[in-house]
Amino acid sequence: MSKTKQRVLSGIRATGQLHLGNYFGAIKGMLALQEDAQYETFYMVADAHSITTPYQVADLRASRLAVVLDYLAVGLDPQRSVLFLQSAVPQHFELSFYLSSLVSVAKMQHLPTFKDKVKQHPENVTMALLSYPILMAADILLYKANQVPVGVDQKPHIEAAREIARKCNSLYRTTFPLPNFFNLAGEYIPSLTGEGKMSKTVDGSYINLSDDLATIEKKIARIPTDSGKGQVKSLSTAKTKLHDSVYFDANGQESKGVKTLMILVELFAGSSLRKEYEASYQKQGLRYAEIKKDLAKLIFEELMPIQEKRAKLEKQVDYVSAVIEEGNKKAQTEATKTILEVKDKFGFNSFF
Ligand code: TYM
Repeated sequence: MSKTKQRVLSGIRATGQLHLGNYFGAIKGMLALQEDAQYETFYMVADAHSITTPYQVADLRASRLAVVLDYLAVGLDPQRSVLFLQSAVPQHFELSFYLSSLVSVAKMQHLPTFKDKVKQHPENVTMALLSYPILMAADILLYKANQVPVGVDQKPHIEAAREIARKCNSLYRTTFPLPNFFNLAGEYIPSLTGEGKMSKTVDGSYINLSDDLATIEKKIARIPTDSGKGQVKSLSTAKTKLHDSVYFDANGQESKGVKTLMILVELFAGSSLRKEYEASYQKQGLRYAEIKKDLAKLIFEELMPIQEKRAKLEKQVDYVSAVIEEGNKKAQTEATKTILEVKDKFGFNSFF
């Protein structure tokens, strides 16, 4: 492995099917960095992170394989990226433990992602949940990653990883680069309901990468819209251009569903069509049925080749297993180097 190239690490939890939020938030960035020769890319299935919330063993087994198949189907390429399972590289847990000595319990309790999960699963506030960001920091630092392609919900975790790296470097003279959040376009994909983000835990909020045209049409048709002439206001506080516009219906009520629709239009058809629609929205109102049908078609056109490739991969179990076995080995080799350095610097490697 080259030492001059920058490193990239990302992962997706094995908790069911991937959706458009994962696709734009994580996968698009993972693909872009894979294609860029200045990066060495490590992409894992974050299967250990899956057990931080209640789960069924059979579901986890199925989801681990499902994420691997999705990775290959979207175009992650084992010739160019190291594809592996987090649980197959025990150094993640080893480093996580060492790093946990640098992090206060209070700091972890204050992370918004932890608070959200406590609300969702108040009966399951475990140590694994609390130390989720430490394991994630270990995932990233183990490969000395510079870039981490993820959605905006993961930003607090990247920030935590940076802080841990900084502290570790200054206390123990380790050489971790400070990892950066990386995203190209869709860092936050809103829910189809118009409220909150697209999420696999919220029914009716997502379109799966595996959805067929009829399902996509049905889901898009349910996005709440309005009627008559509306108004578009620019949100000067929006962090990305994609989220810049806010839509108000004829009664001055915010049309959050219209915003979701327009964001999807921009992502699948481009910003000029969104601008055209925004102009019509303010002139005479939009013909949503038509727009929704066209959008559903565009989404399906993008997903169809992925679905076809995935269907083929499902029949190539030996190939898929070999890819992962090889990826696991490469990841273990890199992880071992870092762990030896860390053990040495923390005082564990030699007696004298
Ligand atoms: P997970 O499995 O929850 O989500 C996978 C990726 O999808 C992104 N994402 C979204 N992006 C934009 N809009 C949305 N609505 C949306 N929903 C999900 C997430 O931001 C994420 O990038 N902690 C990680 C997994 C992980 C990891 C890591 C990632 C474990 N270790 C090390 C990077 C590096 C997670 O829960 O992803």
